[in-house]
Amino acid sequence: MKIQSAEYLISAMKPEQCPNDGRPEFAFVGRSNVGKSSLMNCMLNRKALAKTSARPGKTQTINYFDINEQFYFVDLPGYGFAKVPVSVKEQWGRVMTGYLRHREPLQLVMQLVDARHKPTEKDWDMLELLDRAEVPTLVVATKVDKLKGGERKKNIERIRDGLELDKEALIVPFSAETKEGKGDLWEIIEEILA
Ligand code: GTP
Ligand code: MG
Repeated sequence: MKIQSAEYLISAMKPEQCPNDGRPEFAFVGRSNVGKSSLMNCMLNRKALAKTSARPGKTQTINYFDINEQFYFVDLPGYGFAKVPVSVKEQWGRVMTGYLRHREPLQLVMQLVDARHKPTEKDWDMLELLDRAEVPTLVVATKVDKLKGGERKKNIERIRDGLELDKEALIVPFSAETKEGKGDLWEIIEEILA
């Protein structure tokens, strides 16, 4: 994909604030700190379009980015971050669930899981929610640059088991550091857009 333009559009707090032009959109979900914003920046060849942080909980709203005036990338708040007050967590939860369940232009949700760790119950819950909502999903294993050679296959299979994915289900290894997986994700997105 040739990125001609990639611009921040809006931080939505409720569905009414999301764009209503019907352009296709692609969203990224996953635990806080898993690398959602970094993956987006990597895909778009930008260093800091989506704000990243070593501290979990950076992204707190539904953030829209207009790509080539053709489609949207949607950066979502991470889940599973303990240090946020329960009331705030519940608020995010409602906003996110509402968005994921009812957003018509949503073409694909990329669910990110840190390749170093076992998926959590929250990861499983998210996939289940998307499954029930009949939203197409793709699991992406992030930060694979941090894995040693021998861990790779084992860790990917651990994600497959933990999320109860099919034997053949695609899990895309990704690294924002080395850009591994970037081409694969673009290929999938381009196919949907075509
Ligand atoms: P929230 O917005 O808090 O939900 O986090 P996020 O999922 O958007 O994570 P973010 O992209 O902000 O990255 C979190 C931390 O992980 C940052 O310190 C990044 O530099 C680091 N990180 C992200 N992707 C990678 C990667 O592929 N490899 C390595 N080594 N570090 C990464
Ligand atoms: Mg983020």
